[in-house]
Amino acid sequence: MNKFSRIGFILAAAGSAVGLGNVWKFPYVTGEYGGGAFVLIYLLAILFIGLTVFIAETIIGQNGQADVSSSFINLSKTKNENWKFAGFMIITALIILSFYSVVLGWILNYIITSFSSLPTEAKIAGANFEKLISNDIFLLVIYHTIIAGSVIFIVIKGIKEGIEKVNFILMPLLALILIGLLIYSFSLDSFSKAISFMFTPDFSKIDGNALLAALGQAFFTLSLGVGTILTYSASLPKETNFFKSSIYVAILDTAIALIAGLIIFSFLFEAGAPSTAGPGLVFISLPVIFSAWGVWGQVIAISFFIALIFAGITSAVSMIEPSLRFFIERFKMTRIKATILCGSIFYILGIIALLSMSKTFGTELTFFDKSVFDLMDFMTSTIMMPIAAILTCIFLGFFVDKEFLKGKFIKHTNIFVFNSWYFLVRFIVPIAITILLLNKLGVI
Ligand code: PFF
Ligand code: NA
Repeated sequence: MNKFSRIGFILAAAGSAVGLGNVWKFPYVTGEYGGGAFVLIYLLAILFIGLTVFIAETIIGQNGQADVSSSFINLSKTKNENWKFAGFMIITALIILSFYSVVLGWILNYIITSFSSLPTEAKIAGANFEKLISNDIFLLVIYHTIIAGSVIFIVIKGIKEGIEKVNFILMPLLALILIGLLIYSFSLDSFSKAISFMFTPDFSKIDGNALLAALGQAFFTLSLGVGTILTYSASLPKETNFFKSSIYVAILDTAIALIAGLIIFSFLFEAGAPSTAGPGLVFISLPVIFSAWGVWGQVIAISFFIALIFAGITSAVSMIEPSLRFFIERFKMTRIKATILCGSIFYILGIIALLSMSKTFGTELTFFDKSVFDLMDFMTSTIMMPIAAILTCIFLGFFVDKEFLKGKFIKHTNIFVFNSWYFLVRFIVPIAITILLLNKLGVI
């Protein structure tokens, strides 16, 4: 099995973490929940909960050196085979990949159409977006096929030749585009407005929903609860400093979310547009703003959507890896066979997801008042990811040898760091997530 270099791991894990969650979702959720106070809660969620779980997954992967199921079994005190059921989280990753690929397809459409023209009014932009997702089934299938094909093409080559290489190319390009856009937004009068929107907390806007959204976003943005970080860490040499690597990735991911937020809010405020547009924020509000800037606007629009694609592709390739590794190790499949199997699964699920948003098939593909697309999103981020995170923490906190974990920490940090992490893993994080989960499900 080929391994990452340390920098290769950090780039690949950061590539997984930095995605649509940073550039698309973080800004619109922050906008919906009113800015500063939400950002503050989000940062706390990253620091105390996200980072704790991130380190947890890294430890299990790095020391298990296998697929999710086998890593859990390998590391448990009693080598209990039942831990194989923890492997359910690889399904979560495949489901996310299905609709993530569809959204990347929308973005591909935006890159292409931005070359010819941009919508001049919000009404037109809204209608364009609506038409794309509810009407243009054929186009969407083609885009989804291109994205899925690229993902399959990359991962089939393996960790070093496929995943590590793509991240080495796309991550620096992504950083360049974002820095370019950030410098441009500096020059706008509204930059200071964006700063104060994002960093002046107004706690009257915070309620239970905001807390949950912040926690959910912290998990999603760090790619947690789906076996991705765990599986990448299984290709991390055993002596690598897992603690430092985790911190770097969390910092990179957070920095990029904040930078994306600053860019987008500067643009929005410059045009006097509202920050509360929800998921349509980058697909409806931004194109209209860009259109007022003439040819420059087109250049910026195209760069922005290319940045989104780059960020998203490196995340997409990470979502399939847990199931590949699972089939390769537990069923002795070749990488090519496993890729074709898992690729077909997420490709077909993606088609169902995109059809469920269409006029023609929408009604057949709606259950419990939600389209299959929304159901996939809801099931994964609200239920499956939190459950996996709770399981991961309880596993490390109660079913893995404490001295072993302590030794790993002492090697790279100190006893204080270990004790704090251990306390968070055993009690704070599982309890916090359980309360929020039950609350969301309406139980309490
Ligand atoms: N972290 C990615 C983002 O912020 O867009 C999303 C993601 C990637 C979720 C990989 C899950 C995953 F396994
Ligand atoms: Na992210």
